[in-house]
Amino acid sequence: MKVTAIDLGLPRVVQEPSKTDTAARPDTPGLVDSFGRVATDLRVSLTDKCNLRCTYCMPADGLDWMPDEQLLSDAELLRLMRIAVEMLGITDIRLTGGEPLLRPRLEDLVAEITSLHPRPRVAMTTNGIGFAKRAKRFAEAGLDRINVSLDTVDRETFQRVTRRDRLSHVLAALAAAREVGLDPVKINAVLIRGVNEHEVTSLLRFTLEHGYHLRFIEQMPLDAQHSWDRANMITADEILSMLRTEFTLTPSTEARGGAPAERWIVDGGVGDVGVIASVTRPFCAACDRTRLTADGAIRSCLFSQAETDLRALLRGGADDDEIADAWRATMWAKLAGHEINDAGFAQPLRPMSSIGG
Ligand code: 5AD
Ligand code: SF4
Repeated sequence: MKVTAIDLGLPRVVQEPSKTDTAARPDTPGLVDSFGRVATDLRVSLTDKCNLRCTYCMPADGLDWMPDEQLLSDAELLRLMRIAVEMLGITDIRLTGGEPLLRPRLEDLVAEITSLHPRPRVAMTTNGIGFAKRAKRFAEAGLDRINVSLDTVDRETFQRVTRRDRLSHVLAALAAAREVGLDPVKINAVLIRGVNEHEVTSLLRFTLEHGYHLRFIEQMPLDAQHSWDRANMITADEILSMLRTEFTLTPSTEARGGAPAERWIVDGGVGDVGVIASVTRPFCAACDRTRLTADGAIRSCLFSQAETDLRALLRGGADDDEIADAWRATMWAKLAGHEINDAGFAQPLRPMSSIGG
């Protein structure tokens, strides 16, 4: 396979000679890798832009957005998603960003995705800003589920974390999501030492009161400014022991499958809480994900050092089979895991905001 290097305006990322020989790949249409995993969950980043500036994700200012001509058009995105669903066995599509709601005409795109055959389940990970007034249209377009990022329910802390005063918009998004029948309504929270860690129990109390499903995510080295520090990361163990000062947690017996969150039942059944321990308890062995960036690159992992430029194939006139084959080859070469805990770990050049969560 010929893999095109991606120029991010940074040092160039070049695909290393693959340790996994494509010739050894079984002749199967799905996105299998050499460890036997099968990717059925596609994460699509629709834009690298965001209207918040969360400290664990972006610097206060000075992060350039991708130029518009580099972004995939709606037609290009739909073609890739059709190939994924019809030819590669993708059953779930999650729309992410940056902030996906900043993508114009997103409701129309959702309607077109839910018209694919077989119909994929469609979810969105969003900061919620502007969602409330569009919620009904998203529900009508067939959006199945939503994950809203919310790290605090205190207005001042929200401003410290996101550098913007928008808490009320996010709360309105959550209420609207429930109102239009999206179920479950999930909340993703990242804890930052000395900033919002003390609000861990108030956040859970808030979600239990409203019937939302809260999941804490360990902070990962994916911030644009490369300031992640293991010592500052609040670990899953810390999160659980803070929660246990106020709540009784019993492990959920539900099968986890490829889901990254370990789940606990709260106080005998008043609700649940999840912890995504990407760093301290990696779940890479069960990973079923493949990722498409807003500028058309396929990544087999959040932490991949290499990626495959499908945009060049699309714009160079490749047919569906060629695109599907390039995608299969990329996934076949997926590494066993993210290696954050290895001495030689190197953070990927792309930040989370341009890969998608
Ligand atoms: N570590 C962990 N989670 C992160 N998110 C963004 N950046 C990071 C990071 N460095 C979260 C967001 C969002 C989801 C896409 O991932 O809060 O909920
Ligand atoms: Fe999958 Fe990579 Fe996440 Fe591991 S780190 S679960 S391999 S996307």
